[in-house]
Amino acid sequence: MELKNRLVRSATVEGMADPEGAPTQDLFRLYKRLAKGDVGLIITGAAYVSKDSKLPFYGMAAIRDNNIKRYRDLVEHVHANGARIAMQIVHAGRQTTREAAGTQPIAPSAVEEKVLFVKPRAMTEDDIERVIEDFSVSARRVKEAGFDAVQIHAAHGYLVNQFLCPHTNRRSDSWGGTLENRMRFVRAIYERCRKEVGKDFPILIKINGNDNMKNGLKTEESALMAEMMSDMGFDGIEVSCGIGEDGLSQLRGEVPMEAMLKEWPMYRNKNYLFRLFMKHFGRKMMNTPPLVEAYNRDAARLIKSKVKVPVFLVGGVTDPAAMEDIVKNGDADYISLCRSLIADPGFVELIRSGSKERSRCIHCNLCLAYMVSYSLKCYNGKMIDNG
Ligand SMILES: Cc1cc2nc3c(=O)[nH]c(=O)nc-3n(C[C@H](O)[C@H](O)[C@H](O)COP(=O)(O)O)c2cc1C
Ligand code: SF4
Repeated sequence: MELKNRLVRSATVEGMADPEGAPTQDLFRLYKRLAKGDVGLIITGAAYVSKDSKLPFYGMAAIRDNNIKRYRDLVEHVHANGARIAMQIVHAGRQTTREAAGTQPIAPSAVEEKVLFVKPRAMTEDDIERVIEDFSVSARRVKEAGFDAVQIHAAHGYLVNQFLCPHTNRRSDSWGGTLENRMRFVRAIYERCRKEVGKDFPILIKINGNDNMKNGLKTEESALMAEMMSDMGFDGIEVSCGIGEDGLSQLRGEVPMEAMLKEWPMYRNKNYLFRLFMKHFGRKMMNTPPLVEAYNRDAARLIKSKVKVPVFLVGGVTDPAAMEDIVKNGDADYISLCRSLIADPGFVELIRSGSKERSRCIHCNLCLAYMVSYSLKCYNGKMIDNG
């Protein structure tokens, strides 16, 4: 796959799919804007691979046999507007709710998720086999729909990351324990997907360079993992960080506590005292790491030194001068942008026209807080006034 430049739209849940997961006209419009805005590669928002893998957000995408045609139209629309497009596929594992999953969420081990208050069920061998199959079926559909690549979501505390991360994987069988064992799930997903899509179709992966959890993956181990993934045959590695429970290290910036207390059902349903406590002390408890430019750069650099495939760096990249420096220094091959492109889908176009301005995003993170109930947009610090 050849891209016209090194600027990538990182996967971003758009909340622009119909209840069956098919793309709506809003998604066509958004992708047209991004493609016209000179983004080299658009990575779609995470698309769930089976009913129980759904994330607890509004308008989640899913590719199914009966909507491949709609996705094919979307891909053609993006190609006609000059960009490439990859679909990201995901299983939420324990990082969802019973309502979204339609059943008790599953995970490698029954470790409670402390942000969503979910106690998952430990997966059986049959569950593991079924989910591997679900990933491969989705990958086959992604290729059939004409996408340029598929990306496995193995970051941010979702199921594949849950197998890799010692905090969430406490298994004592062959799926847990040593790094090789924790890698077994992603290896099986890769091999099965590869069988479905053939040797020439790019399979990308998004990983954590650091889980930012006491018992989570640290950068040295992530780099070893990345090396194994590159040897396995993954065609590109995007380096991110963090899991849902770690205090928003994935995004940094503001913790949109008031909006979360208002919108997220798991908080809305809590009693008054809990809500009052969270309003005043929630931010402090979360202990979010500071927002610095390109906060996954060190991890990407180490990973890049170990792997044979292109590395994508995501996380807090807002300054065109930093982007140039990252690529010139060889710390990453591609720069992935999420919030910069929510705040301004034309940001890449601006940079390519010579602008040195930073992104307009102020990192209020309201776009994240409102994902539960609304389609994606930039709120730029202004909360929705819904009484
Ligand atoms: C509203 C929103 C939706 C997101 N959806 C996804 C997603 O579907 N898949 C994913 O891997 N990351 C997702 N992310 C994380 C971003 O891809 C990215 O890793 C993170 O925002 C850091 O990059 P940034 O500083 O450029 O925003 C999302 C982030 C936001 C704010
Ligand atoms: S709502 Fe807009 S300004 Fe706030 S974090 Fe999201 S993209 Fe940035």
